[in-house]
Amino acid sequence: MNITESRKDEHVRISIEKDVAAHHNYWDDVKLTHNALPEVNKDEVDHSTKLFGKKLGAPLIISAMTGGYTKAKKINENLAAAAEKFQIGMGVGSQRAALENESLRDTYGIIKDYDIPLRFANIGASQLVIWGHKKTLENAQKMIDMIDAQVFIVCLNFLQEVIQAEGEANAKGSFDAIKKLAEDLEIPVVVKESGAGISYSVAERLSKTKISGIDVGGLGGTSFSAIEHFRAKLIDDDLHARGGNTFWDWGIPTPTSILEAGDATDWKIPIIATGGIRNGLDAAKAIALGATCAGIARALLESAIKGKEAVIYEVDAIIKELRATMFLVGIDKVSKMTDIGVDLWI
Ligand SMILES: Cc1cc2nc3c(=O)[nH]c(=O)nc-3n(C[C@H](O)[C@H](O)[C@H](O)COP(=O)(O)O)c2cc1C
Repeated sequence: MNITESRKDEHVRISIEKDVAAHHNYWDDVKLTHNALPEVNKDEVDHSTKLFGKKLGAPLIISAMTGGYTKAKKINENLAAAAEKFQIGMGVGSQRAALENESLRDTYGIIKDYDIPLRFANIGASQLVIWGHKKTLENAQKMIDMIDAQVFIVCLNFLQEVIQAEGEANAKGSFDAIKKLAEDLEIPVVVKESGAGISYSVAERLSKTKISGIDVGGLGGTSFSAIEHFRAKLIDDDLHARGGNTFWDWGIPTPTSILEAGDATDWKIPIIATGGIRNGLDAAKAIALGATCAGIARALLESAIKGKEAVIYEVDAIIKELRATMFLVGIDKVSKMTDIGVDLWI
């Protein structure tokens, strides 16, 4: 697989210009029980939380999206400004491009200029297998230094690989590579899906390793199958366009995946809920189901292209909605969110 400037750019452009969401957003099937007598004051609601030993201003992470081509630097910078302002976590997209071409390092490294409490490095799992353990550790250190990361994400994106014309759907050895990495890397390793979710049995296998967290990256938001469908259409590649359409809604819905991964791991490691989070209400639902934090990607991309103020406006709105939800369910602390009633229609 050759990461070209145009492919990373295409992913962002297609995500903005086309409707690449799954056909159903499963957060609409989750309802929180309204508390008509909340007995808390909205302004006293405390939405701060802790993740991997760091205090976050809200249980939110700006999920991995981009880096590795010239225009990505500005996108990452705009996102970073909001992550700093609200003291929330932030990930960058796969850093492979900058390992292959050092001149691209600052398209990720720009986020080091911002005081972000938790930065997440990112690489695809199949890359670990190609590199082998020794080179993986060397490259992981380079990626960590590139953005001064406190957490290292290994991304599972086999849906995308199998749909993409140039994809490498080679998954053999990924589990062992992740296991060894988690044993030897000095910072926490998080395993993250990118839109197809983590099942009970995968989470159970992962729970037997030294990984420190799971980002379930479930179905309901951005569909990489959809993105690859549109990429294939750009070059009249009917076969891959068809595949992208067929698998558009493949995966485990994010709310279900939170419950499955949580149960399989006995909730002993943080579960991060990425996939389809559009607002603070969706984020609150994820926390109520047991996630430690909610991850948001596509919903921030449009504003990230516009500028810092636009992302700040969006994240501020999301946090205000989260606060409003906490008030309406009568909860003044994030840690109490799992005490409230949740109805699930999936
Ligand atoms: C343009 C774009 C690029 C992405 N690149 C990556 C990536 O490099 N690594 C990764 O782990 N996830 C990547 N993702 C997946 C997101 O982190 C997230 O898991 C997914 O988009 C679902 O969240 P959403 O519904 O909020 O968009 C990307 C998403 C988008 C929209």
